[in-house]
Amino acid sequence: MRDPPVTTVWLTGLSGAGKTTVAEALAERLRSEGRSVEVLDGDELRTNLSAGLGFSREDRSTHVRRVGFVAELLSRHGVVSLVPVIAPYADARHDVRAHHDKHDTSYLEVHVATPLAECARRDVKGLYAKAESGELTGLTGVDDPYEAPEEPDLRLDTTGIDLSTAVDHVHQLLTATTTEEAAS
Ligand SMILES: Nc1ncnc2c1ncn2[C@@H]1O[C@H](COP(=O)(O)OP(=O)(O)OP(=O)(O)O)[C@@H](O)[C@H]1O
Ligand SMILES: [Mg+2]
Repeated sequence: MRDPPVTTVWLTGLSGAGKTTVAEALAERLRSEGRSVEVLDGDELRTNLSAGLGFSREDRSTHVRRVGFVAELLSRHGVVSLVPVIAPYADARHDVRAHHDKHDTSYLEVHVATPLAECARRDVKGLYAKAESGELTGLTGVDDPYEAPEEPDLRLDTTGIDLSTAVDHVHQLLTATTTEEAAS
């Protein structure tokens, strides 16, 4: 049997794009295959690891670098780290990838590229309605920047596809990466 794919998979994209939903479902699938998996979810980590940080450019980048640090530690020790965190800035994402490279830890970036209009239509957390009414400012993709990855390892638009298909795509990316590693 192939070795498990030990890697960090960062799922970046707008709020409501499907990052958490895909990460949780993928985690289930990987666990059923006998792999050790952690989901490092942005919402949860903001209540502990990044408690006290806000949504300024600096705080968002600090949050991303901290989560990247933990993901690398876990991955280095054989746990697949799935990271559904918006990570809107290219330079912070670049730092996370560089940190993984420095430690020779595998890192994959998935751009969950569901368009803003679809994310706003879903409006899972009601954030887009609040931004529309002026109750909320600084929403990524609305009045705060989202710097889309130029060369993600996978670009995944979840519009009009079911969850299992979305999970298949990321799972295939992992499998392909594992096969490549085994061959090299
Ligand atoms: N193919 C799909 N893959 C993932 N989610 C989908 C898909 N089709 C529809 N959805 C729905 O889209 C929504 C995505 O919400 P989710 O909480 O996963 O977004 P998120 O990217 O984690 O947002 P946030 O950054 O706010 O945490 C869910 O309600 C989910 O059911
Ligand atoms: Mg989420």
